[in-house]
Amino acid sequence: MKKPLRTHGFLREQARYLEWKEARLNNYPRAVEELVVEIDGLSSSSATDRAAINAICTRSNMAIYRCRDKSVDRQLIREFASRFGLTRLDHHLCANPEGVSELSVAASGVRSDYVPYSNRGLSWHTDGYYNDKPRQINAVLLHCARCADSGGENALLDPEIAYILLRDEDPRFIEAFEHPDCMTIPPNENAGGEIRPEIRGPVFSYDAAGRIHMRYSARKKNIRWRDDALTRSAREYLTELLEDKGSPVLRYRLRPGEGLISNNVLHNRTAFTDKPGNNRLLYRARFFDRIGIT
Ligand SMILES: [Fe+2]
Repeated sequence: MKKPLRTHGFLREQARYLEWKEARLNNYPRAVEELVVEIDGLSSSSATDRAAINAICTRSNMAIYRCRDKSVDRQLIREFASRFGLTRLDHHLCANPEGVSELSVAASGVRSDYVPYSNRGLSWHTDGYYNDKPRQINAVLLHCARCADSGGENALLDPEIAYILLRDEDPRFIEAFEHPDCMTIPPNENAGGEIRPEIRGPVFSYDAAGRIHMRYSARKKNIRWRDDALTRSAREYLTELLEDKGSPVLRYRLRPGEGLISNNVLHNRTAFTDKPGNNRLLYRARFFDRIGIT
């Protein structure tokens, strides 16, 4: 007898899964412009604006908003996010006391140790893949205050689409990615000692409603993958999928006043170049909540 997938709820039942899959694929945006909603501003979004953002998030777990009023600060980011039910912030190492990080090139300090605070490219990942389960990042808001002179584009893919394409290729890829020892992040240590212990867990996990959470990093360094043939094949297939020009990956370069709100979708970032005196600045807030459709 075939071993049932660890997958929760409706994803286990083939008929319901196929129905869900068809709806997800049919509704998924084909062009990145379908993700974009024009809104008044972070402090003045209307119920209509928010309904439009929620509708797009329902299709793709992400939306891009474009503010007519480009005013922004950390508090406005928090207020705007709270209108989508995003209130429980991850106050991680590099965030400000308000829990909102400012992504810009850092020449010194603790931030300069991390690639997001450089102008280098970032490989495919979901945010907080090094967090333990109780601190799982379920939503991310990325807001552009200033863009780079060139580069700094994001590629984006809804993890539900990645799940479907992996399962279509071979359902055992899902089993491999559900394994609790699938992906291990060694401890984060500096001269002062251990900042974070080793984190071990699956790529795919599920909440009580069967909604998929994906934990992933394509980084070659500092990730220990479960050493078996199926995990290797699943990773290879996912890598091909993310690099394939014909895949449903969407690409966008945020402009000032634009932001990406998402249920922590897969993304990467191209390297960028700053103009002297006008460096790229993105605000980033990570949440333990998922986007609530209110
Ligand atoms: Fe990220």
